[in-house]
Amino acid sequence: MLSLPFNALLLALSFFGLSTAATTTSSPPASVFTYTNDNGNIGGGNQSFVFALNIDQSTSDVYIHMSAPAGNSWMGVGFGSVMQNSFMFIAYPSSNGTGVTLSPRVATGHSEPSYYKDIHCNLVWEGGPPNSNEVTKQGSASAMYLDAVCHNATKWSNGALNIGASASKTQPMIFAVGPGGHGPASNLQSDDLSAGLVRHTAYGTFTMDITQALSKDSTTAGVPRPNGGPNNSTYTLSGASTSTPKSDHDPAPAIHGLVMCLSFVIIFPLGALLLRTLNRVILHAVVQAIGFFLVCCASAGGIVVSLAYNRSKSFTSAHQIIGILLFLALISQLGLGILHHRIFKKEQRPTLLGKIHRYLGPTIILFGIINAPIGFAFAGNPHLIIPYIIIVVLGVIVYISIRFGARLCCRGRNAKRQAASDGDGYQYPQFGPGGQGPYSSGPPPAYGGRGDDVPLKPYESQHSGLAAPPAYPRPMV
Ligand code: HEM
Ligand code: HEM
Ligand SMILES: *[C@@H]1O[C@H](CO)[C@@H](O)[C@H](O)[C@H]1NC(C)=O
Ligand SMILES: *[C@@H]1O[C@H](CO)[C@@H](O)[C@H](O)[C@H]1NC(C)=O
Ligand SMILES: *[C@@H]1O[C@H](CO)[C@@H](O)[C@H](O)[C@H]1NC(C)=O
Ligand SMILES: *[C@@H]1O[C@H](CO)[C@@H](O)[C@H](O)[C@H]1NC(C)=O
Ligand SMILES: *[C@@H]1O[C@H](CO)[C@@H](O)[C@H](O)[C@H]1NC(C)=O
Repeated sequence: MLSLPFNALLLALSFFGLSTAATTTSSPPASVFTYTNDNGNIGGGNQSFVFALNIDQSTSDVYIHMSAPAGNSWMGVGFGSVMQNSFMFIAYPSSNGTGVTLSPRVATGHSEPSYYKDIHCNLVWEGGPPNSNEVTKQGSASAMYLDAVCHNATKWSNGALNIGASASKTQPMIFAVGPGGHGPASNLQSDDLSAGLVRHTAYGTFTMDITQALSKDSTTAGVPRPNGGPNNSTYTLSGASTSTPKSDHDPAPAIHGLVMCLSFVIIFPLGALLLRTLNRVILHAVVQAIGFFLVCCASAGGIVVSLAYNRSKSFTSAHQIIGILLFLALISQLGLGILHHRIFKKEQRPTLLGKIHRYLGPTIILFGIINAPIGFAFAGNPHLIIPYIIIVVLGVIVYISIRFGARLCCRGRNAKRQAASDGDGYQYPQFGPGGQGPYSSGPPPAYGGRGDDVPLKPYESQHSGLAAPPAYPRPMV
C-alpha cells in the first residue's frame, strides 16, 4: 500500500496550496493594457479601456478583466494582429442593461466575428471596486466592467496562443469598441451570445508580455486585480505596449439606405411624373436610367454590407430577398421599356411589352418604398421608420397634386385639342392628339385611338378628354 501515503501527501500539498491561495490577498500575475481616451475616439467619457490577462498554464484557462466607457455598445479584445482568425473576448450590456454578457468569438476577416461555441466562458464575481460584471451609467464614472474566465481558451480554429516555455513577450493583440447611439443595434443590450454588433467606432493594436501573465496552476491563477497601488481600484499599464487606436465608422449601410430611398421615393416617381406631365419619353428614360444606375450602386453596397454582418451574410432576410427581386424586376423593366419603344417607333402599335412595363413600374416603386422600412428594422434602426413614413406621405401628396393639378389646369386646352384631333380619327394620348413628333408623323396603321407607347393607364387613353394630355408644346423626341 505505497500509494496511500503518497496520495495523502498530495492531498496535504494541494490543501496547503489552496489554503495559501485563499489566505493571500495578492493579485494573480497579470499583464495589463490600458488606453486612456485623449482624443475622444472611445466614446462616453473619461474612463480608460482596460484589458488585464492571466493564464493558467495547467488548464489553459484564460482569466480576464476588461472595461470600457459605457457609451460604447460593445468592447472587445482579441489574440492576434488582425481580425482574421483572431480569438476575441467581446462583451456588451446584458438584457437588463446593468449586467454584462461575454461572447467568445472568432472573425474570418473584416467582418462581424461569430460566436465560437467550443470555448466556454463564465463570469467571475470579485467584489469591488470596481464592481464585477456591471454597467454603471453615472457621469464620468460610466463604464462597463467584465471579470471572467474562458476555459481551455488558448487554442481555437486556425489559431493558438503559446503559453509554454517560449511564450511571447510581445504577443500581438487587437482591441476595439462599438459605437453608441440610438436604436437597438448601437444601444445593444442582450443575453444572446450571437447578438449582432455594429462595426467598431475605434480599433487598435498593442502587444502583451504573455510571460508576465502566466500562472503555473490554479493556486495562483485568477482574474487580475487592480494594480494601481494599495487601496486603489484602478488598473495601470504593465507588461503591455501602449496603443494609438484609429477612429472608424461604417458609412456603407447609411449610404445604401439613403440612395435606395432617394431612388424609390423620389427619382422613379419623378420619372413617371415627367412622362405624364411633360410627356417626353426621352426625359422619362433618362431619369429612370439615372435611378437604375443609383440602384445598381446601392445594391452593390447592400451586398458588401450583407457580407460584413452575421445577420445578413446568408442573404435569407426578407429585406434582401425583396431587394434582389426588385433589382431583377428593374432590369426587366428597363429592357421592356427599350424593346417596346423600338417596336413602337417602327410599327406605331401598342405592344404587350409596353403594357407589362406600364404595370410593373408602379409595382416596383411600391415594393421599393415598402422595402425601406423593412431595411431600417433589419439594420437595427427602427426609429427611422416614422420619419421615413412622414417623408413618403409628403412625397405622395406632392405627387398627387402635381399629377392631378396638371389635369385640372389643362383640361380646357386638352379638350380643344381633342376635338381637333378627332377629325382624323387618331389620337395619341401621351403626346397629345394631333402629334407633331416623329411618333405621330403619320396615321398609325390599324390603330384605334389607344396610345400605348409608354406607361399610361388604359382608362386614361380611353377617356382622354378627362385625363390630361400634355400642357406643353410637344418637343421633338
Ligand atoms: C461588426 C463587427 C465588425 C466589423 C464589420 C469589422 C470590420 C472591420 C473592417 C472593415 C476593418 C478594416 C478597416 C480599415 O481598413 O480602415 C477592420 C479592422 C480592424 N478591426 Fe474590425 N470589425 C468588426 C469587429 C471587430 C472586433 C470585435 C474587433 C476587436 C476585438 C475588431 C478589431 C479590428 C482591428 C484591430 C482592425 C485593424 C486590423 C485589421 O485590419 O484586422 N473588429 N474591421
Ligand atoms: C428596394 C431596394 C432596397 C431598399 C429600398 C433598401 C433600403 C434599405 C434601408 C433604408 C436600409 C436601412 C439602412 C440603415 O438604417 O442604416 C437598408 C439596410 C440594409 N440593406 Fe437594403 N435596400 C434595398 C435593397 C437591398 C439589397 C438588394 C440588399 C442586398 C442583397 C440589401 C441589403 C441590406 C442590408 C444588409 C442592410 C442592413 C445593413 C446593416 O446591417 O446595418 N438591401 N436597406
Ligand atoms: C441583470 O442581469 C445580470 C445577468 O446578466 C444579473 O447578474 C444582474 O443581477 C441583473 N440585475 C438586475 C438589477 O436584475
Ligand atoms: C472628462 O474630464 C474633464 C476634466 O476632468 C471634464 O471636464 C469632462 O466633463 C469629462 N467628460 C465626461 C464625459 O465626463
Ligand atoms: C482543450 O481544447 C482542445 C481543443 O481546442 C481539446 O483537444 C482538449 O481536449 C481540451 N482540453 C480539455 C481539458 O478540455
Ligand atoms: C490610483 O492610482 C492612479 C494611478 O496610479 C492615480 O492616478 C489615482 O489618483 C489613484 N487613486 C487613488 C484614489 O489613490
Ligand atoms: C487601505 O484601506 C484600509 C481600510 O480602508 C486601511 O485600513 C489601510 O490602512 C489602507 N492602506 C493604505 C496603504 O492606505
